[in-house]
Amino acid sequence: MKKLLLDVDCGVDDAQAIMVGLADPNVEILGITCVHGNTTVENVCKNVLRVLQACNKLEIPVFKGAAKSILGIKVGDENFHGQDGLGDAPDAGAPGLDLIQEENAVSAIVRIINENPGEVSLVATAPLTNLALAVRMDPTLPGKLKGLYIMGGNTESRGNTTVCGEFNFAADPEAAYVVLNDYQCETHLACWEFTCYNPLTWDFCDAWLGQDSDKARFMAKIFRHSMEESKKDGGCLGSTGFISCDSYAMAAAVDDSFVTESDHYPVTVELAGTHTRGMMIVDTLGLLKKTHKACIMKKVDMEKFKKMMMAALK
Ligand code: BDR
Ligand code: CA
Repeated sequence: MKKLLLDVDCGVDDAQAIMVGLADPNVEILGITCVHGNTTVENVCKNVLRVLQACNKLEIPVFKGAAKSILGIKVGDENFHGQDGLGDAPDAGAPGLDLIQEENAVSAIVRIINENPGEVSLVATAPLTNLALAVRMDPTLPGKLKGLYIMGGNTESRGNTTVCGEFNFAADPEAAYVVLNDYQCETHLACWEFTCYNPLTWDFCDAWLGQDSDKARFMAKIFRHSMEESKKDGGCLGSTGFISCDSYAMAAAVDDSFVTESDHYPVTVELAGTHTRGMMIVDTLGLLKKTHKACIMKKVDMEKFKKMMMAALK
């Protein structure tokens, strides 16, 4: 059984990633920690509970974490994810915030990893504020992780939020810096350009959402807004189809054979720069003299990915 802890800013593609994890019979999700990002951290908590309700998994504990970046900046991506972060398509009877655990997300990350040393993989699909705070609370944490899977950063200085910044890193560059430098554990990165080069075709999306299940009907409802926005966009970096960014990090965490080729380089994040703050730096020449290298996803098995996505809505 793979033990996962998820850190999300639930967002439509976070919801998809969570559902991929929930659908895998070999995965145990120990908890879901929430952080600011696509929407407010309160909305993120509500959205996670809605996803868990749609999957009959409300027993999984959900924790509320940081409401702002380390420097106190609050972002949001309402144009794409909707005002509520989940496509502005409310459910009657959605669970209330009283189901959120009293323990703070950062304390929960520290506690859960310490209770399961060497066993937990952390899947982070959001600004990295909670993870940065957690390693400051407990510097031994990275050494107790099985693996770290992150959707974030970029490899070709192509941004989706600022000219050179991918959303999760640009939303909290200091946190991304701390995580890439202090989590000296096995680290897998699904970066922005990589996700754009591996979209799901619109035909696949039709078949995916057309499945006869409550989960597919839930996804069709919350996905409508961002699907329309994606189609309007005309595709990111020339892609035609939908990019479920966060699901690539989840797919790598649940299935070791999903990633078929990776680059291995030290990485860090630009904290200054007129246009480059929040951009990921890939040190191909080893000039930073860092010993730790991240695995940067390059090629994946898209047939496996499609199967995982289909199973998520069955
Ligand atoms: C990332 O930013 C968010 O909008 C998505 O949920 C994803 O985690 C993509 O850059
Ligand atoms: Ca996300």
